[in-house]
Amino acid sequence: MITLGLPGIGAGEVVDQTTKLNSIPNLNGKDIETLLTVLVNGSRRVERVSLSSCGAWIKRYGTEKPSTWRHLQAMFSRIVPIAFLRPCAYLSPRQMAERERRRIVLFKERGIAVPDVLYASNGAIVLADAGMTVQQRLWQLRDGDPAAHDDLMVVCAAELGRLHAKGLCHGRPYPRDMFFVGDRLGFMDFEEDPQTVMPLEVAQARDVWLLFLQIATGARFGLQTQNRAYEAWFEHAPAAARVELQRMIRFLGGFLFLARLIGRVHMGSDLQRFIVATSFLMHAFTNYSVD
Ligand SMILES: Nc1ncnc2c1ncn2[C@@H]1O[C@H](COP(=O)(O)OP(=O)(O)O)[C@@H](O)[C@H]1O
Ligand SMILES: [Mg+2]
Repeated sequence: MITLGLPGIGAGEVVDQTTKLNSIPNLNGKDIETLLTVLVNGSRRVERVSLSSCGAWIKRYGTEKPSTWRHLQAMFSRIVPIAFLRPCAYLSPRQMAERERRRIVLFKERGIAVPDVLYASNGAIVLADAGMTVQQRLWQLRDGDPAAHDDLMVVCAAELGRLHAKGLCHGRPYPRDMFFVGDRLGFMDFEEDPQTVMPLEVAQARDVWLLFLQIATGARFGLQTQNRAYEAWFEHAPAAARVELQRMIRFLGGFLFLARLIGRVHMGSDLQRFIVATSFLMHAFTNYSVD
């Protein structure tokens, strides 16, 4: 029996997959063969495939076991009943693929640029290439043009605010999951759906904190850029998310003392990000009213 490297998929489904791949517009016979070969034989979680007229990305689910961090998060959230710490429920690969596809459709309907879904099957989806990610552009700009680098970080925060204003939350809004669409940004990677385990405004506040973990230590102009990024998000963000962010940061701020203490012994990059982002957001609330 041929297996697709995906749980529970056999020869019958290869035929089914071929039929579905045939329905993707602008694919020739060679493209279908290439995609099918990677779907059947590939093992990497996310991989790019070059097709005759475009690039495509194949994303497989369920190839990784839940990380230690996830177990810790689950354990911690049972002890401390704080909504934003609650991990999403564990889903089967098929359910994960379906959730990502469903969220891509939802975001598109609300006017957010997302990669086109070319094909979705049990435990895998094929997406159209969305081009360069924001993270890749940030790396290019980092040394040569620090001002443009930080401007781009500010744009990320503004785009996240706009996404929140549409009643959505991303779940993991890192620059590596954003891409360029003219002078605006699009989003990808919708695997996490925090709204299934917490209210929308909590999930949105969590989004901001996660983005600031990236901005805080990455910004070339430190506090100045963090302030601009916060203002950019704040300008678009719903009031409920601003209030919730303040509540969340007050709670996290309680751990700053301990984090700094640990940092004196060993300052890992995650800890440093936590300290810089959380202390900045605490400082932001003394400068900006949430009302
Ligand atoms: N459609 C796409 N267009 C361009 N790059 C993509 C696309 N899909 C995935 N990638 C690249 O692969 C990376 C990982 O994919 P992602 O969907 O974010 O999975 P993961 O859950 O592993 O983060 C992205 O950050 C991006 O660099
Ligand atoms: Mg990602």
